[in-house]
Amino acid sequence: MAHSPAQTPLESRSSGPLVGTVRVPGDKSISHRALILGALAVGESRISGLLEGEDVLNTAKSMQALGATVARTGDFAWVVQGVGVAGFRQPTTPLDFGNSGTGCRLVMGAVAGCPIAAVFDGDASLRSRPMRRVLDPLALMGAKVIADGAGGRLPLTLLGARDPLPIEYRTPVASAQIKSAVLLAGLAAPGQTTVIEQEASRDHTELMLKHFGADIVTTVEGVHGRRITLTGQPELHGAQVMVPADPSSAAFPLVAALIVAGSDLVLFDVMANPLRTGLVTTLREMGAAIEETESRGDAGEPMAQLRVRASKLRGVEVPPERAPSMIDEYLVLAVAAAFAEGATVMRGLRELRVKESDRLEATAAMLRVNGVRVEISGDDLIVEGRGHVPGGGLVATHMDHRIAMSALVMGLAADKPVKVDDTAFIATSFPDFIPMMRRLGAEFS
Ligand code: S3P
Repeated sequence: MAHSPAQTPLESRSSGPLVGTVRVPGDKSISHRALILGALAVGESRISGLLEGEDVLNTAKSMQALGATVARTGDFAWVVQGVGVAGFRQPTTPLDFGNSGTGCRLVMGAVAGCPIAAVFDGDASLRSRPMRRVLDPLALMGAKVIADGAGGRLPLTLLGARDPLPIEYRTPVASAQIKSAVLLAGLAAPGQTTVIEQEASRDHTELMLKHFGADIVTTVEGVHGRRITLTGQPELHGAQVMVPADPSSAAFPLVAALIVAGSDLVLFDVMANPLRTGLVTTLREMGAAIEETESRGDAGEPMAQLRVRASKLRGVEVPPERAPSMIDEYLVLAVAAAFAEGATVMRGLRELRVKESDRLEATAAMLRVNGVRVEISGDDLIVEGRGHVPGGGLVATHMDHRIAMSALVMGLAADKPVKVDDTAFIATSFPDFIPMMRRLGAEFS
């Protein structure tokens, strides 16, 4: 397990304007995928801008344990020598994914197509999260779980299939992790593996598979859904990947700049894949001054430069079909909603209950302890914005990086300081968060 029990609390207080230009770290989803596809390709892959957070570093270690060569050649620059599709060797030690559901579930998919046994484990948060959602389709493809914790949870041993079967699979929830696990297992199967999703989830796996040379086709399914078909047993070739800045990390300075009076911030190279931009769409509906000043792209992933200025926000209703495009951003959106005038109603948030923590309950608790009126109604979260937040509360982070960062952002504009009990987990996704925010003018002590 990655963390010692010692907690590192921090307090955030009302700050002067946040001003500057920053690039937040590389996108976590793309960083995991670049390492995994680099390991499944033949030859060398060069990755720049990799997120060097604990989650991604655990995926790098797992790729090494499975036989790939993974080396750091400079700041955020990594080289992977792959073993080829289905070429993983049996690891001699358990694969420890720490706090990361993405790393764990995607690697389960990649292992499921290889005739090896691997032990998967993680920290207390990851051990509490559901894995059947991924193990069920992988079992249809021929993989077996030969030992498991209660209810299919970690730690478990996965026995990959010698001759994996291609399947057509309809995901029960909009989840890029389930989709990606099936596609990664499908790489080793003959014929076509198809995933159908009722609501489109982030498509980084599909875009990157194409970039590495796979034959993968996506068509529209229903109103918001997609059908993705991968032709198995391709020869993936090593590729160059430039990882754009993570919009889910950019969300924290972005919301901070909106709520701290006088702020004017530029965030550059932010990934602008339309399946990740729900937060910016919603904040604009709330009245946020967010300007997109430059756009470019790399390997199918668009990027934008965002200029954000402090804004008066108003409550809005966020429709359930927008959830997959901003699933990791509801915590910090709830903070913005608390500073808005009027109620913000966020619908269809059931999936938040199975993230690094139960984020529906944790968001409500974070706001309540700081004097904000909030209600959970079924799968919906309703925040009563009153234009200001009393603050003064101690927030429990529950081993969840995004709770810690959201609460610290809230404290920057609250009437009284906001304290978080533990900042250690911020290192899983945004190791530079505290110094970067301080450089912009945030007062943390
Ligand atoms: C991710 C997918 C999302 C998201 C997670 C990263 C990915 O999870 O919450 O932080 O990289 O595929 P689900 O696919 O389970 O919704």
